[in-house]
Amino acid sequence: MGTIRLSGIGRSFKSTAAVRDITLTIDDGDFLVLLGPSGCGKTTLLRMIAGLLEPTTGRIELDGEDITDLPSKKRDLAMVFQSYALYPHLSVRRNLAFPLRVQKLGKDEIERRVQDVAASLEIDHLLDRKPKELSGGQRQRVAVGRALVRDPKAFLMDEPLSNLDAKLRTQTRQELTALHRRLGATFVYVTHDQVEAMTMATRIVVLNAGRIEQYGTPEEVYDRPESVFVAGFLGSPAMNLLDARVVGAGGRISVAAEGLAGDLWAGSTDALDVVLGIRPEHLEIADAAGPRAGVSIAVTVDIVENLGGEQILTCTSGAGRVHMRTSRAVRIAEGAELTLRAAPEHVHLFERSSGRRLEWVPDDGTDEPGVNVRAAKRALAA
Ligand SMILES: Nc1ncnc2c1ncn2[C@@H]1O[C@H](COP(=O)(O)OP(=O)(O)O)[C@@H](O)[C@H]1O
Ligand SMILES: [Mg+2]
Repeated sequence: MGTIRLSGIGRSFKSTAAVRDITLTIDDGDFLVLLGPSGCGKTTLLRMIAGLLEPTTGRIELDGEDITDLPSKKRDLAMVFQSYALYPHLSVRRNLAFPLRVQKLGKDEIERRVQDVAASLEIDHLLDRKPKELSGGQRQRVAVGRALVRDPKAFLMDEPLSNLDAKLRTQTRQELTALHRRLGATFVYVTHDQVEAMTMATRIVVLNAGRIEQYGTPEEVYDRPESVFVAGFLGSPAMNLLDARVVGAGGRISVAAEGLAGDLWAGSTDALDVVLGIRPEHLEIADAAGPRAGVSIAVTVDIVENLGGEQILTCTSGAGRVHMRTSRAVRIAEGAELTLRAAPEHVHLFERSSGRRLEWVPDDGTDEPGVNVRAAKRALAA
């Protein structure tokens, strides 16, 4: 078992609040990713869970036991650091054995566990080498192995792939996912890399300035971002975010900005300043015979980037910069003037003043799926 519960956890350094009032349950067996930009408090939060840093406020429980004041070495948790933190003067074998010697296990038991872990990570041929005789990828495995030998309740990892090159990072990512599935243990994994978060996590916590911005599965966080911050943080290129104005007339809600117009849903609303969000992969080139509903944006194509399988268009519109991701089968020249379109179900709206998502709520009294922005605003305020 390895359920970690954080209640009102905060940490300040002098006058800076690095982590603010985090309440979160990490379920047994989850691969929880703490995701956010540099400086948002990820490492600080992980170090508090590990017992390497005291919280200023709040409480930490492991399987129902209050461990807030328990020293790090008495917590049944293992940490893998970004720097790997291997002992340079010890062989791989002794590095792996170290946490077991601290636990005062017998010699045979230690040797057996070291062999098992080394075999499972395919580092058994490196046992007699020193860390400086290993590649970056091999050191990373030893660091994971040293966590693994202890058979802890949870693994805590702080950007463990950031020192690897791109190819090795992809491979190691898949190995860590496989390891998680095999062990069924709880992983808490810190990264600023949204691809790592999307591919490995069972749950993602997006952190911004020490606070939880959103908690959810990778799909929820990607498909239904709760805020402009989350919308802009996940995806590459990121979601297009354009200032626009929503109005209601004749039982329909529409959106407009310079060079941009769209009929969205049935419903009614007061006029409202919004940020309109559309992912680059949800834009298509409008053709005269196509559907009329949705948002249309007049653009000039500035740059066409060929990614091999796909292409990224960087465009200028009256409302701002727009990225579109499309198949290379679509032939587009730089300088082209186009109309891009997104279907209503791919349109995200955020209240401009707060940056919070406006929810799509079916309009009262109709069967047609739509949104009542005014009702949604009330729901958010409540
Ligand atoms: N030991 C420290 N002393 C003072 N400020 C710190 C210390 N550790 C972290 N901070 C500050 O706390 C904030 C969060 O840092 P950190 O948790 O390392 O962020 P992240 O891991 O997300 O990049 C930053 O503003 C950082 O400068
Ligand atoms: Mg960090």
